[in-house]
Amino acid sequence: MVSVNLSVMSRQGDECLTLVEGGVCDGWLAWFALRAARERTSNFEYWAYDSWEGMRAKDLLPSELGYAGNYEYLDLEQTRRNLSEFGNAIRYCKGYVPESLNEYDGPPRVHWLHIDLNAAKPTEDILAHFWDRIPRGGVVLLDDYTIQVTRIRSAWQIFSWRTGVSGLLHCLPDKAL
Ligand SMILES: C[S@@+](CC[C@H](N)C(=O)[O-])C[C@H]1O[C@@H](n2cnc3c(N)ncnc32)[C@H](O)[C@@H]1O
Repeated sequence: MVSVNLSVMSRQGDECLTLVEGGVCDGWLAWFALRAARERTSNFEYWAYDSWEGMRAKDLLPSELGYAGNYEYLDLEQTRRNLSEFGNAIRYCKGYVPESLNEYDGPPRVHWLHIDLNAAKPTEDILAHFWDRIPRGGVVLLDDYTIQVTRIRSAWQIFSWRTGVSGLLHCLPDKAL
């Protein structure tokens, strides 16, 4: 997926490969994505959004309320250590989505967006925030797409219906792209 995005990037005349993740946690997926980016270009940046705090009940649908308080063990400094090999390529955007999107507006162009927030409402918020910055051929990866309780599938359907977005939706096991 990162190589696909390099061709999108050169088609757009962009010099920097820009990746955004909503829901970074301790950086497991970020580490693989950053490795893949670094193998292909020396010019990349990774915008990392996470609260690094427990999930708030106010962000959750009734079906998701069991997730309230999850991830309160997270520590941004530990994530920084886990991803330290990538140095300044990572912009840490600590705070809850959607408020953090006001504080950290993010990059003007996004070639790859991975959303793994375990909740439908912030998923829709971050999608709406970045959608117009994704060029044709860019990739949006929705984690948890098929997990009933998070209703990410419904969030996508509502978002695409409201905005009239078009594009290919591929379902991978447990994810959509
Ligand atoms: C499933 S984990 C992400 C896993 C990560 N993508 C990985 O591959 O290792 C979900 C993350 O979403 C974050 N999160 C949940 N709701 C959030 C919100 N409203 N704003 C910011 N972060 C949130 C949690 O703190 C947690 O780190």
